[in-house]
Amino acid sequence: MEISSPYQEKQVSLQEAVGRIRSNQTVCVAMAGAEPPGLLAALAGERDRLHNVTLWTCLPMRAYDILLKPEMEGHFFNENWFYGAPDRKVHPEGRVSYTPNNLHLAAADKLIATKNHVDVFIGTATPPDKRGFMSLSLGNVYEKEMITVADLVILEINENLPWTFGDTQVHISDVDLLVENHVPLVELPAEAPSEVEQAIGGHIAELIEDGSTLQLGIGGIPNAIASFLTNRKDLGLHTEMFVDGMVDLYEAGIVTNRRKTLHHGKMIATFALGSQKLYDFIDRNVSLEILRGRYVNDPYVVGQNYKMISVNTAIQVDVLGQVCSQSIGTRQFSGTGGQLDTHRGAQLSEGGRGIIALRSTAKNGTISTIVPTLAPGSGVTVPSQDVDTIVTEFGVAELRGRCVRDRMAALIKVAHPNFRDWIREEAHTLGIVPDKRFYTGG
Ligand code: COA
Repeated sequence: MEISSPYQEKQVSLQEAVGRIRSNQTVCVAMAGAEPPGLLAALAGERDRLHNVTLWTCLPMRAYDILLKPEMEGHFFNENWFYGAPDRKVHPEGRVSYTPNNLHLAAADKLIATKNHVDVFIGTATPPDKRGFMSLSLGNVYEKEMITVADLVILEINENLPWTFGDTQVHISDVDLLVENHVPLVELPAEAPSEVEQAIGGHIAELIEDGSTLQLGIGGIPNAIASFLTNRKDLGLHTEMFVDGMVDLYEAGIVTNRRKTLHHGKMIATFALGSQKLYDFIDRNVSLEILRGRYVNDPYVVGQNYKMISVNTAIQVDVLGQVCSQSIGTRQFSGTGGQLDTHRGAQLSEGGRGIIALRSTAKNGTISTIVPTLAPGSGVTVPSQDVDTIVTEFGVAELRGRCVRDRMAALIKVAHPNFRDWIREEAHTLGIVPDKRFYTGG
């Protein structure tokens, strides 16, 4: 008699797997590069059978019917931690709603709201090793935390996923159902930085000393920094997101992690997203550990790194120093993610700094991103009392510990020249900085 393995016993088709999901249940979906494309497509096919299913998603990468199609109304509702392109598109139709969060507490907050209950978790993993362990590969922001709580755990096995180390391993015995779907990975190709991004990258690189540990956020600017760090020595990485620029820094011998005061000798991240080059680099790479978001992004953990430099990107900054990185006025664009986590953490570090980088203008130079007041309805990502350093292509504005009048002066210097007078005059008219001497140069 042939004895079946635990893998074979749990292996089902995509249709069988989603057939276990019921109306009125909550389904937590792994994020970004770790999202399960086969299960999400199959679940959309169950539309007629299912009503009032809530999805918890974060930065969905592909154009899924389940998120996009109007006929999903009443069948699936998307509660989202960080908007991606599908969410931005669907938001006006009302089938998605943003869940405000700081990334390191995203799972914890949801579990408080639901009294520690999630019905189903769907995600991706590598095929198991000979001992039955699989790697969650590209993401451990909330995935492992949810696997331990969910009533039903379904993993989509994809042999193209890199095997990552750290806390990404799950055992077959922790999983209920397995489906195989060996599809190409979602890629975020690294784009060449623009001239403005390069100028910003150059200013930021000046603030990074030998031996610093870096966190680089999402967007074009963080990748631009790498090319200006060629003369630095012994940098370390403790970052929310592992991106292509970091591969270059490691391969050039600039990131060595040798002077790290926490996780000495290792790069630490909580998810990875980029090109195939990045995925090849992180596969079975012992120098990188993907740990839980609750740990990696905890400001008190981030702050234990010596000379911790956190770089994130923004949409608008006002003269108080309030930073909006997640919405364009009332329009939800992305999310807070770990921006406030790492910005705060860096300021707790000895010799550390929280940097917010942005282009001085948007929409082909027609609007200033440095503004007297944030646009009505903007989500504040970094409150004024947490802000530290703002960088544009025109230079560096150090705001930490400074009064609003001086913050405004520093911000005007890094605003685009076409908008400097407007910022000053508006702030005066609105009474934000009424000090008349300031306007006469006295
Ligand atoms: N007013 C109006 N529109 C603006 C604007 C402003 N002040 N600033 C930017 N925009 C528009 C751009 O024109 C662009 O629009 P488009 O998509 O129609 O072209 C869009 O907003 C995105 O701007 P861009 O500067 O190209 O984005 P980016 O890819 O560099 O990302 C953030 C910047 C801020 C959106 C991104 O970093 C983010 O979501 N951050 C929040 C979370 C975070 O930092 N987490 C921690 C790190 S993982």
